[in-house]
Amino acid sequence: MFAKEVYVRRRETLLAKMREAGQSGLILFIGNTEAPAQYKDNYYKWRQESCWLYYFGLDEPLMAATLDIDSGAETLYADDVDIDDIIWMGPQPSVRSKADSTGVEHSAPYGAVGNAVALACKSGRAVHFLPPTRYFNTMKLAALLPGAAPSEALIKAVVSMRLIKEDIEIEALDHACDLGIEMHSVARDAIRLGIVEQEIVGKMEGVALAKGWGAAFPTILTQHGETLHNHGHAAIIEPGKLLVVDAGVESNEHYASDFTRTYPTSGKFTTKQREIYQIVYECNELAYSLCKPGITYREVHLATARKMLESLSALGLVHGDLEEMLAAGIAGLFQPHGLGHNMGLDVHDMEDLGENLVGYDPDQTRATQLGLRSLRMARRLCPGHVITDEPGIYFIPALIEKFKKEGLGGNFVNYAKLEGYYDFGGIRLEDDILITPEGARRLGHGRLPISPEDVEAAMAR
Ligand code: GLY
Repeated sequence: MFAKEVYVRRRETLLAKMREAGQSGLILFIGNTEAPAQYKDNYYKWRQESCWLYYFGLDEPLMAATLDIDSGAETLYADDVDIDDIIWMGPQPSVRSKADSTGVEHSAPYGAVGNAVALACKSGRAVHFLPPTRYFNTMKLAALLPGAAPSEALIKAVVSMRLIKEDIEIEALDHACDLGIEMHSVARDAIRLGIVEQEIVGKMEGVALAKGWGAAFPTILTQHGETLHNHGHAAIIEPGKLLVVDAGVESNEHYASDFTRTYPTSGKFTTKQREIYQIVYECNELAYSLCKPGITYREVHLATARKMLESLSALGLVHGDLEEMLAAGIAGLFQPHGLGHNMGLDVHDMEDLGENLVGYDPDQTRATQLGLRSLRMARRLCPGHVITDEPGIYFIPALIEKFKKEGLGGNFVNYAKLEGYYDFGGIRLEDDILITPEGARRLGHGRLPISPEDVEAAMAR
């Protein structure tokens, strides 16, 4: 938890933004509760709701709060422990002291939040709330405010704050990235022919658990990198394959990191692998070099797509006019995802608040084209934005076949040559980037080896 003043200031800012937007009434926040896995007392790993963490910092279940936009009054709703709780989990600080630790003036039992909401509704006051992620909170909100919709004004105010990371958050993100780099280094050093992928996952996630809250999202470690989110880890590491490792650490402060590297399982790239790897590497570097305040991330995505098509054309996998290929969305055949996403307390920061409200400026419309339509962060870059830079090239036989059958690739795609890549897999290379007033910097101290030469050298050690 940061200092109390951080949360007090953030809530004051939020209230001011809501007033500036002409809003009145109550803001209702609901924290997460524990989610039972098999039975009530055996629950999934605890994780607090991110907006709650941002505005209150209290990392405990079953809490709610109201902020009164008109009077500025703030109330924390939570229950003090009873003797049964003390027997089960030991003595706990009082709710009053928890409220003090985050600078909230009033406190009340958890159940009283229902009365506060009911009273506001009865008086004709608006109750603003964010879209819930967990089912418990969905049901709680449905019971408190039947039929009510999340508040777009509140979403916009929250997004405007969380998108621009404060210095203390950047420090926390650097730390999460340092842990992510350590986790990936352990993974790289553990690659051995003949072992099960799961052994590597266990070792790398050990770092995440030993030094942080755990993995920031389910680790992707696969020799079938052409499947973007392959979470199976049962395969044996085979010679001559490419191993995609996409993973990050959530720090104890709950900030995320998210890196991807792709390794030749035998320690050296084949010529064919290296040709494609070099393209992805150059796209990663190009994206980083373009990142600076003023450019949109959509423009950066399109610049890397152009570069990718140009290089694939040099290999004879596509042919034709570059601009026409770009306009026809041919890059989506090879990279059917966006260049990156926002990152912060969530690895895909705030996507639960609505991808378009988070990742798109009001004057931007989301594309419908394969690849570009999956761009989760398209905004004009500003200092304080934290984004991922993660180009990839994938040879997905089913997608190539679909393009061929339905003529989606026009005359641009060399299907005969692509058949030689059906067992290639995929390559993705990802770094985490902070936009600064001058341009950008990669988060974390140091960088995981990424050039093909450096990757081979690191694997030889
Ligand atoms: N790195 C995993 C993801 O972006 O979903």
